[in-house]
Amino acid sequence: MIKKIKIKELRIGMFVHDFNCGWMDHPFIKRRLTINTDAALEKVKKIGIEDLYIDTSRGLDVKKTPAPPPPERIVIKETKSEVLKTIQRESIKEEEIPKTITYQEEIDNAKEILSETKDVLVEAYDNVILGKETNLQALHPIVDVMVESISRNKDALISLLRVKEGDDYTFMHSLSVSTMLITFAKTVGIKGDLLNQYGMAGLMHDIGKMKIPLNILNKPGKLSDDEFALIQNHVVEGLEILNKDRSVSDIVLKVTAEHHERLDGSGYPNGLSGDQISLAGQMAAIVDVFDAMSSDRIFVSGIPPVVAINEIFKSRANHFKEDLVNKFINFIGIYPVGTLVKLESNRTAVVIESNHLRPIIRIVYENISRKKLMSRPIDLSQGTGLNDRIIGYEDPARIGLDMMQVMELAQLRY
Ligand SMILES: [Fe+2]
Repeated sequence: MIKKIKIKELRIGMFVHDFNCGWMDHPFIKRRLTINTDAALEKVKKIGIEDLYIDTSRGLDVKKTPAPPPPERIVIKETKSEVLKTIQRESIKEEEIPKTITYQEEIDNAKEILSETKDVLVEAYDNVILGKETNLQALHPIVDVMVESISRNKDALISLLRVKEGDDYTFMHSLSVSTMLITFAKTVGIKGDLLNQYGMAGLMHDIGKMKIPLNILNKPGKLSDDEFALIQNHVVEGLEILNKDRSVSDIVLKVTAEHHERLDGSGYPNGLSGDQISLAGQMAAIVDVFDAMSSDRIFVSGIPPVVAINEIFKSRANHFKEDLVNKFINFIGIYPVGTLVKLESNRTAVVIESNHLRPIIRIVYENISRKKLMSRPIDLSQGTGLNDRIIGYEDPARIGLDMMQVMELAQLRY
């Protein structure tokens, strides 16, 4: 069990799971280690951290640990964040946004938007669980704010949603599909108010899962045929919920109904094929599969985005339209922000701006000397400043990082 403890509680025999500080802020090559000597204990205490994470399944626990408090229910905020208010007050439209800003400039804004959106979405989902009436109209302003963020920088919101916290998986996945669908829609030339409908569709596409028992939804291992059928039924359940709300648009209904359909008729629930599936449904299918395959939970990595993209690419013509797959790859990039990559020079870098095959990177690790680095940003598309190239994906765990820490390295301002 992973447990956060005070530094003063650390003792010999404990297994440190995470130092709870930036990678550059501690002297160890690996973040995870057993404290087996006084010297190691002292070295950790000298870092200057107040608390850290231990793994009690791999080492000693703290003495007489009080039972953890029950998780607090997320309280729906009454007030709107400043960023939301400002954007609504000024009614910023897509075409009025003065310029595209960098990922690092947008990231704090995106964090605030995400926090706001999560609260409102949790309330909407809770209403479904409690059998109350949904008021999905209330989500439209939130989606407008997401559209604005994506218009300023397409990577900020998407990158924050790559790491999903365990219990929140379904709505984090829905938020992720929503941001990617908005971006995808912009990529295929969809403009104006329609973008909001694509965002809404992403938020709602899996709402039927709220009706599925959690022990089946989160069941590890193989599902029985009956359990699988129950999970597949989330599409029908979702439509039933959404059809009760008159404000729901046709695009939201199509995406909910068709995101598991496949071009060759092998999908569900209706086995639709070819152009029987709407454009929005086909786009949602690609985004949904990509997010499900490549998402990272805090301490468990999904498959690398580049591998997920390859799988989707292999399924083109059978499952997905080829031109849509190409457009998807174009905006998501082979190496999305927060991807750790190996360089030919035997160094490791983190992607800080995606740009297809030649992103902007920051070198963070020297593989031979096993030294941490923090280089200036290097724009591989410019071909200047670095005689190097990406030769593949790097597993963060190999250099003692988890996905959250990789994202932190990507978010550092420059
Ligand atoms: Fe689904």
